[in-house]
Amino acid sequence: MKNQLPSDIVEFIEECTQQEHSDSYLIAILHRIQNQIGWLSEDHMNEVAQRLQVPTATVSGVATFYHFFRLKPRGKYAVSVCLGTACFVKGSDRVISAVESELGIVLGETTQDGQFSIEVSRCIGVCALAPVLTINEKTYSRVTPTQVPELLRAAAEQG
Ligand code: FES
Repeated sequence: MKNQLPSDIVEFIEECTQQEHSDSYLIAILHRIQNQIGWLSEDHMNEVAQRLQVPTATVSGVATFYHFFRLKPRGKYAVSVCLGTACFVKGSDRVISAVESELGIVLGETTQDGQFSIEVSRCIGVCALAPVLTINEKTYSRVTPTQVPELLRAAAEQG
């Protein structure tokens, strides 16, 4: 096993293993890893499985089931489209399709050059501006599919 997890996460897993039903902490553990490292690699998942003493398939099953876990590194520009109810009603699925077709990748992927990745979010609390798209920390409101190419270009130009 390649031990790659930071020591504070290893400690957290050890605390979890001392609790009853330690496997119920799996999602919390994976969240911590993603928050710190940015994504979940196969090695991370294997290490969690071994330390938590659950089958690897359980860990990868949970990681792939929930859309908020990233199984690949993020791009330099993380494009995130809100799929909360208000945004969905206002067409965020069409915005996602526009991003996918502009970048030539699908949701959850990162472009070959490592520049862009596409992900979805739950409501980010600005429903009045729906549909919203964020690129790293910047939020764009009332986004239409036709605006997408320009938004991506502008983000890349700003560096
Ligand atoms: S549903 Fe998208 S910001 Fe609330």
